[in-house]
Amino acid sequence: MTDIPKNLLIWFKSNKRDLPWRRVDDPYAIWVSEVMLQQTQVNTVIPYYHRFMEQFPTIMVLAQADQNHVLKCWEGLGYYSRAINLHKSSRLVENEYNGQVPSDPITFKKMPGVGDYINAAVQSIAFNYPLPVVDGNVKRVLSRLYEMPDTVNDTKNLKVFNQKAAALLDKKHPGDFNQAMMELGAMVCKPRHPVCHQCPVQDFCMVYCNETILEFPKRKSKPGIPTENWVAAVIQKEDKILLTRRKTGGFLGGLWEFPGGKIENKASMPESCLRSIQEKINIDISIRKHAIQIKHTYTHFKQTMDVFLCDYQSGTIQLNGPVEYRWIGLSDIDNYALPKSNLKFLAHLKYFFKKKS
Ligand code: ADE
Repeated sequence: MTDIPKNLLIWFKSNKRDLPWRRVDDPYAIWVSEVMLQQTQVNTVIPYYHRFMEQFPTIMVLAQADQNHVLKCWEGLGYYSRAINLHKSSRLVENEYNGQVPSDPITFKKMPGVGDYINAAVQSIAFNYPLPVVDGNVKRVLSRLYEMPDTVNDTKNLKVFNQKAAALLDKKHPGDFNQAMMELGAMVCKPRHPVCHQCPVQDFCMVYCNETILEFPKRKSKPGIPTENWVAAVIQKEDKILLTRRKTGGFLGGLWEFPGGKIENKASMPESCLRSIQEKINIDISIRKHAIQIKHTYTHFKQTMDVFLCDYQSGTIQLNGPVEYRWIGLSDIDNYALPKSNLKFLAHLKYFFKKKS
């Protein structure tokens, strides 16, 4: 063992944050935490983790749960395929593995949604299997330690970061080593304001020695994210409103929403709204009023969403895109998992509906 892992482990022992998933050794709980942490910051994850574990304390309970209940607990966390895959995996574990999370990486990798990151994180933390974790924090740490020319946001460089991490891995304590690397990236070797004087591996760090800290990690420049214009229709029929469900797999897959979608021509929003409803659910509606414009930023685009309050006129719903629909009372809406953009206008909607009655 070189001094880098040794120093890291000593540092981690006395500096690690007291996080809820660090108090448990249940592989299922560790799996849940890592799936949530894969694309999301620790502070955002904590309340979701508590709620999820309260609702689904064991993998068998999760396996018995309804998908909509699982998505409801994930609502607002984003990347919903993570929840859908975790749920599918729980059923596989129940049916094929006697309710036990597989403790070898080859079997575990067969679970839906388990890629290199989840595999290495869960197998090393829960079972002490010597696999290196490589996430954004780890890449930044490695890039600085070794003054690596390889850009961190290019998938073709994953292999070289993986090799570096594997070479450094403490094979006796892989779980703690991996967490220490991630912790160092999150708490000390931060993107813009690294706190080098607190760093346990400062003496080994090439960018520190060469005073090139802020030149690393190298990043490939990417074009700015585009703006997309969307419309959404809150369609009322007597005392019910219409929700449709997005197909699983794609963007916001499996979530319920007010029907509508992306439009190409911003010139006539009401017209686009009517057309979008015609195309997707094949009914005629009339627009009562423009309710609000919502802005929301997703990872790949900025969204503006114009929301129209509408009345059902005629026709039978035929689904062309959405996979399910329900006419629901407004008071039932909290039982449905909705995208952030839809959640943002719910408060306004409640206000409008109150005013009408
Ligand atoms: N990010 C992802 N997994 C983590 C973990 N186990 N500890 C700290 N940060 C993390």
